[in-house]
Amino acid sequence: MRLLYTCYDPLLPFELIDVVERLIDMITSTAVPVPTKVRELTNFAIYVLKVAGKRKLRSLNFIVSGNPDEWLVKHTYNVVGVIAQLMCEMRFPFIEAQKVIRTVVLHDLGHIPLRNPLPLSDTPEGGDRYRLHVVLGYRLCRELDLSMDECDAILTHHENFDGSGFMSRRGKTIPFYARLMRMADDVEKLVTDQGVSTFNVMKHFMLYSSKLYDPDMVRWMIATFGPIPTGTTVRIHGEKGMVEGAKDGRLAVVHLGTRNVEYIPFEKLRNMIQPGEME
Ligand SMILES: [Fe+2]
Ligand SMILES: [Fe+2]
Repeated sequence: MRLLYTCYDPLLPFELIDVVERLIDMITSTAVPVPTKVRELTNFAIYVLKVAGKRKLRSLNFIVSGNPDEWLVKHTYNVVGVIAQLMCEMRFPFIEAQKVIRTVVLHDLGHIPLRNPLPLSDTPEGGDRYRLHVVLGYRLCRELDLSMDECDAILTHHENFDGSGFMSRRGKTIPFYARLMRMADDVEKLVTDQGVSTFNVMKHFMLYSSKLYDPDMVRWMIATFGPIPTGTTVRIHGEKGMVEGAKDGRLAVVHLGTRNVEYIPFEKLRNMIQPGEME
């Protein structure tokens, strides 16, 4: 994984972390007029989608960790990165993608007035704080006069697909944006807060497909980032290689000896890379 950070551009610019921080400060400030907040939020969404749209490969290797005091900023940055790539790869209508990104920026801001210790408060173990942050986030979204799709998504972003969440919404009755965010939100928490490797993150999604996550969303996730995550060491044609990312149904594998990159269609992976040789 270190090799990827040293040899390749980061997937999203690191400066974006500062941009996210400023945006959150502005949205939660009472001194800034609502139209300015909405304009800045929309401009940010457009910018992120343009950056993600231009990237050569899709990957989860941009995800950053941080200390718990900065949890909200790095969490927002990471979830924005996952969703922006999904939107671009799945060729979502631009206007819908913009709304989803705006929702992601707002989705956990309900923790700020509650002064919640993070990240625990964003899990069921956080109890009342966990239940309340979605309601306050919804209210903030209404104050900004965003669409009902966006506001509802914030309210239901922790629901489970099988109906076992705390609002008992089930299946496709959970808003589309919320089902998408539920998955991207967990990608980032598993990788940064629980230290789960991206390889095991994919296994987690397959295991909990239909239970916690919409199975269609899990399929999109795998179609976007590839069945073998970035940073996985593999053996290909008898040589050592490393997965660099995915794009358009093909996995990019860099040969560690020659540094040549080979693009392998997902359906041929089984023949090219033997099971048990992945590390
Ligand atoms: Fe949340
Ligand atoms: Fe979240």
